[in-house]
Amino acid sequence: MGYDLYQGNSFQVLEEEFEENSIHAVVTDPPYGVVEFQTANVEKMREGSGGVWRIPPELDGNKRKPLPRFTTLSESDKEDLRNFFRQFGESVERVLRPGGHVFVACTQLLMHEVSQQLDEAGLERRDVLVRETKTLRGGDRPKGAHERYDMVSSMPRVYWEPWLLYRKPLEGRLQDNLDNWQTGGLRRESDERPFTDLLGNGKTPKEETQIVKNSHPGGEEEAEAHPNLKPQKLMRELCHAALPLREGTILDPFMGSGSTIAAAHALGYDAVGIELDETFFEMAQNAIPKLAEVPTEIEKRDDVEEHRTQSRSLSDFGK
Ligand SMILES: C[S@@+](CC[C@H](N)C(=O)[O-])C[C@H]1O[C@@H](n2cnc3c(N)ncnc32)[C@H](O)[C@@H]1O
Repeated sequence: MGYDLYQGNSFQVLEEEFEENSIHAVVTDPPYGVVEFQTANVEKMREGSGGVWRIPPELDGNKRKPLPRFTTLSESDKEDLRNFFRQFGESVERVLRPGGHVFVACTQLLMHEVSQQLDEAGLERRDVLVRETKTLRGGDRPKGAHERYDMVSSMPRVYWEPWLLYRKPLEGRLQDNLDNWQTGGLRRESDERPFTDLLGNGKTPKEETQIVKNSHPGGEEEAEAHPNLKPQKLMRELCHAALPLREGTILDPFMGSGSTIAAAHALGYDAVGIELDETFFEMAQNAIPKLAEVPTEIEKRDDVEEHRTQSRSLSDFGK
C-alpha cells in the first residue's frame, strides 16, 4: 500500500512508464480549458492579475479563490482542448484494465467537448455525477449596465459540478471481468445502498486548504493553495466507488496538490499521481500525508475500516 508521484507531462509519463492494462481506475480533475495551466496564465494567477483567471472580489475581508473564465476560449483554444482530451482518452484507455472506470471533473460549458473525445478514444459513457457545490461562477448582471438591467443575469449562478463517468469496455460479462481483472463495477456504499450519482459534498473545508497552503515550497511568504483543491470527503467517496473489490491502483494524471492520491492513501489503496508544474508537485509531496490524515465519514464504513486494518498489518510486516 503506497503511492508513486511523477513530475512531468502525464501523456509522456504514461507512455514511457506504464504497461497496457496496468491501472484499475482513473480519478482526476483535468485542466479543462487547457490554457489556464500554461506557464503564462499560472504566473498571472499567482500575481493575482487576471489573464484567463478571474480574481473574484474580496467579500467580508475574505480572499476568494481565482476561477478560470472558460467563456474566453477562442475557436483555436477549443481545437487544442479537443486534441488534449483525445490524447487523454487514448492514454488512459491504453493503461486501464478492461472495465476500469474513469471519473473526470468537468464544467457545464465544456462537458460536451470532453465527452465527445472520450467516446472517440474508445471509452464508454456511463453517467454524469452531480456534485452539489456553490461556486461564484455565473449569476452576474450585464457588464457595464448593472443598474440599467438590475434584474437580469447573463447566465445561471452555478450550484453543481459535473463529473463524467466513463469505463473501458468490459471483456465478457461483468462477473467475468471482475474475476479476471477485478474491475468493471462500482463498489457499493453498503449492502443496502449502491453508489449514487448525486454527490452532496459541498465546499473544500478551510482546514484542508490550510494544509495545502502550508505545503507551499516557497514557505509562508508565497503560501497559496492550489485553486482547484477538491475536498477529501468527495475524493474518498469517488476512490471508494472506483475499486469494486478494493484491489488495485488509482491513477490521477493531473494531480495538482494531490487530493486524489491522499484520498486513495487514506482508504488503504495504491495510487499514482502525475503533475506538470514543479511548485504544485512539491506542494503535493508535502500535503498528501497530511490530507490523508484528515478524518471524514467515509473511512468509518465497515468495509473501509476492515481494509485499512488489513493493509496496515501487511505494511507492518514490510510487504
Ligand atoms: C484542475 S488541477 C487539479 C487539482 C487537484 N484536483 C487538487 O485537488 O489539487 C489540474 C492540474 O493538472 C496539471 N497539468 C496540466 N497539464 C498537465 C499535463 N499535461 N500533465 C500533468 N499535469 C498537468 C496542472 O498544473 C494542474 O495542477
